[in-house]
Amino acid sequence: MPQLLEPVQLNQLRLRNRAVLAPMTRVSAEPEGQSNELMRDYYQAFAEGGFGMLITEGTYTDTAYSQGYLNQPGLATEVQRDSWVPIVSAVHQAGAAIIAQLMHGGAQTQGNIHHARHVAPSAVQPGGRQLSFYGGDGPYATPAEMTEAEIHEAIAGFVQAAKHARDAGFDGVELHGANGYLLHEFMTAEFNQRTDRWGGDYKARLALPLDIIRAVREAVGAGFVVGMRLSQSMVTDSQLKWDGGVEAARYRFATLASAGLDYIHVTEGDISAPAFEEGESLAAIAKGAVEIPIIGNGAIGTGEQAQQLLDAGVLDFLAIGKAALANHDWPLRVQEKAPLSTFDYEMFSPMATITNELAWRGTHGRSAVRR
Ligand SMILES: Cc1cc2nc3c(=O)[nH]c(=O)nc-3n(C[C@H](O)[C@H](O)[C@H](O)COP(=O)(O)O)c2cc1C
Repeated sequence: MPQLLEPVQLNQLRLRNRAVLAPMTRVSAEPEGQSNELMRDYYQAFAEGGFGMLITEGTYTDTAYSQGYLNQPGLATEVQRDSWVPIVSAVHQAGAAIIAQLMHGGAQTQGNIHHARHVAPSAVQPGGRQLSFYGGDGPYATPAEMTEAEIHEAIAGFVQAAKHARDAGFDGVELHGANGYLLHEFMTAEFNQRTDRWGGDYKARLALPLDIIRAVREAVGAGFVVGMRLSQSMVTDSQLKWDGGVEAARYRFATLASAGLDYIHVTEGDISAPAFEEGESLAAIAKGAVEIPIIGNGAIGTGEQAQQLLDAGVLDFLAIGKAALANHDWPLRVQEKAPLSTFDYEMFSPMATITNELAWRGTHGRSAVRR
């Protein structure tokens, strides 16, 4: 039976346990997208807190249309690449692996220093209002439908950013195909209304993610982890469900995996809940459809909950988000059966910066458990 806090192999990576830090955007990078010391302290705290692997916040991939937020870090340029080196090294020194999440903002873009133009598969305006804690204000812009050249530019961006991640010392990359950003948009009927080779039925709408997986894999080789994150819901539509039900979900997981992924990361509001009206969770559907490891995320708060999911055989790794923000040393606390602090949304007020988070930590006390 897999144990939460015992060492485990994730393909070529030896991890000290199955606890993974979920990717969380913190809008704390320099205005030009370089990572900084504040971010190093932030990631180092989770590595020292016992996580086996950290997935970084969504990091933008090119200097065209990929940036989603102001003060978002990038891996698009050599300067941005080099700025990650001290973070990667601090995390490795503290005994954790670190994966760079590669993200193209697509229609959910709120801030981009490189271009004012917003692009997406089709000219469909996302619903709702921009996220103020990421510096947004008012409704989302209606994006332009991407041209063929812009699609190829986006693919090239993912490839370049993956190479930059490898060269900065990261252990792998996670392609962000979740939460409503560009790759997710291409996979949905709602945002992808194209009639060319990038659109069509649910199978045809996998074209862009598949091309990116193959191109990234070819660029980085077999020894570098390449994963993908998938969700049904979007930042701008929490109720959205994939079309085609369980059968189409299985097809998506199997097809994406066989293009060259090392893991699939499934996120849902509650990772234990049925994916559709009833029946299996999305993690369980993924686990049944592929041979590669499944990381599950969504409303996992305690070690008991995490171990139950492992015991049920529906996933292989647990990604912890808000509970980790409240407990940077979540794995150590779980191991020592120490009490867990409760997450507080106040820490995102007025913005989700690490500065606020550190200030919040200051008022709530630093991690109680020490190794
Ligand atoms: C402040 C914040 C920023 C987030 N940024 C990202 C991101 O950059 N990439 C991503 O895939 N998910 C992002 N998420 C979603 C989390 O990874 C996770 O899916 C969500 O918090 C639910 O998991 P939890 O219940 O463990 O918190 C973010 C969540 C929060 C709270």
